[in-house]
Amino acid sequence: MERTRWYKDAVIYQIYPRSFCDSNGDGIGDIQGIISKLDYIKGLGVNAVWLSPCYKSPNDDNGYDISDYRDIMTEFGTLDDWKEMIAGMHERGIKLIMDLVVNHTSDEHYWFQEALKGKNNPYRDYYIWRKGRGKNGKRPPNNWTSRFGGSAWAYEEASGEWYLHLFSKKQPDLNWDNPKVREEVHALVKYWLDLGVDGFRCDVITYISKREGLPNGKWNIGIRGDEHFTHGPHIHEYLHALNKEVLSNYDCMTVGEASGVTIEQGLMYTAEDREELDTVFTFEHVNCDTIAQLLPCKLRFKQFKKVFARWQAGLRGKGWNSLYLENHDQPRSLGRFTGDYGEHRKEAAKMLAIAMQCQQGLPYVYQGQEIGMTNYPFKNLDEYQDVLVAYVRKVLGVFEKPLAKLVHKVFLIRARDHARTPMQWDSGVNAGFTSGKPWMPINPNYVDINVAEAEQDEDSILNFYRQIIKYRLGSDVIRNGLYKEFNTGSKDLYCYERSWEGKRLIVICNFKNKEVELTLPNSFAYSECSLELHNYGYDRKELKKMTLRPYESMVYLIV
Ligand code: GLC
Ligand code: CA
Repeated sequence: MERTRWYKDAVIYQIYPRSFCDSNGDGIGDIQGIISKLDYIKGLGVNAVWLSPCYKSPNDDNGYDISDYRDIMTEFGTLDDWKEMIAGMHERGIKLIMDLVVNHTSDEHYWFQEALKGKNNPYRDYYIWRKGRGKNGKRPPNNWTSRFGGSAWAYEEASGEWYLHLFSKKQPDLNWDNPKVREEVHALVKYWLDLGVDGFRCDVITYISKREGLPNGKWNIGIRGDEHFTHGPHIHEYLHALNKEVLSNYDCMTVGEASGVTIEQGLMYTAEDREELDTVFTFEHVNCDTIAQLLPCKLRFKQFKKVFARWQAGLRGKGWNSLYLENHDQPRSLGRFTGDYGEHRKEAAKMLAIAMQCQQGLPYVYQGQEIGMTNYPFKNLDEYQDVLVAYVRKVLGVFEKPLAKLVHKVFLIRARDHARTPMQWDSGVNAGFTSGKPWMPINPNYVDINVAEAEQDEDSILNFYRQIIKYRLGSDVIRNGLYKEFNTGSKDLYCYERSWEGKRLIVICNFKNKEVELTLPNSFAYSECSLELHNYGYDRKELKKMTLRPYESMVYLIV
């Protein structure tokens, strides 16, 4: 099978199924709901969908805890619904990327249930068990912490042993050093490829190989162990085998979730001749407004731009970048990267679209981003649904009262729940998401911010996304061009140039809610240029010194 690398000419729309569209009134998004919106997705101009997990799951972490890899979550529908969905996508020229969550399973997965039966059970070694430390083994085997807070180990009474869970207790880590586990993963990947899926987003894939002996980790602002399980000793061997034995036989693509990845490591995973993954999700740019990846701070804008420049240059000609600002784990991009946008919500959202969509790589649009959905105004900690919030609260335990305010402040900015409120389809009951009681509260701004409204408005963010996606997919300069940031003397602007075969694309983005003076380098003093994209609806011809309006952004082509 020839691998066409179709992902280099793609734009992907991410669906978080629980919050996308509910077809049967139980308040939970489902597959028939997705099917009812396939024309909408097609209308965006995207040619692939990444679907967050839709497998059988007790939903401790909304599907990222899988209890059956080969079947569909009861609330979402049946395998037949899923088949109808993928057929509907393929008919419309849309490929389907499934989530592959194989660092861990649910504790309700058959393998773990068997493993619990005792040390001699054949499935015991599918997971990572150890004796505890201390006299009675009542202290966890090492000091690693779970990503959700607290020890990464859970004690199991019956055997007196502990099992490793880098996420919640209900997400035990698989033991990838066991060849049987690797075989199981190969088989289930093949199962879905044979059913027609076009690729996988590989959940926390950089964690699958743990350092032998599971040594204690260094203290790193309360987090411990990372250095022993991120990019672990056998990761490249395991991914290469998955590629050679399964993936390479299909015209599919992969994107690995790779927190903490550097360019050098990024190339280890994605350089074409290494035959591992095709692309990775990096995190450096979304960490530019945090301290220690958690505590919110003001966006370090200079650094933000530098990160893009480094990755654009670093992977050029060798790998392929992923371009995203939002997903189901990140708060909404509006406000986050734009500051307070006031009356300029539309311009600000379009500006972010320009900034991202004109870079080289594979862009992702997360559900709701195309209509400029915003963070939810949570009032207190009880309103959050995320297992992460529950965990942090539990771990803080007795300290909860004095700390509750601070924790709430952090989550009000950073919580994953912001991205998970239901999709806003119209201004009717429950934003058109469900006829029942939605599983998550709907953002009260749905009366103004919704798809139906955006359809009516020629200048909507939605229509701008349609325009820019179409433009991007038809532009050889965006696909292939060399990326070079240029200096305008203003700290409020993000400007870059893409050049390819004598053509130059000039991308100008004002990230601020104020007028900003722009002086272009002399080499740009062209009279012959065309305005290709602009987030204000008038023709702005000159390309020299100009005063940009709040968030004003444009793309010029010089031939
Ligand atoms: C990834 C997912 C996140 C999930 C975690 C554990 O980071 O994106 O939603 O909680 O993995 O599976
Ligand atoms: Ca439903």
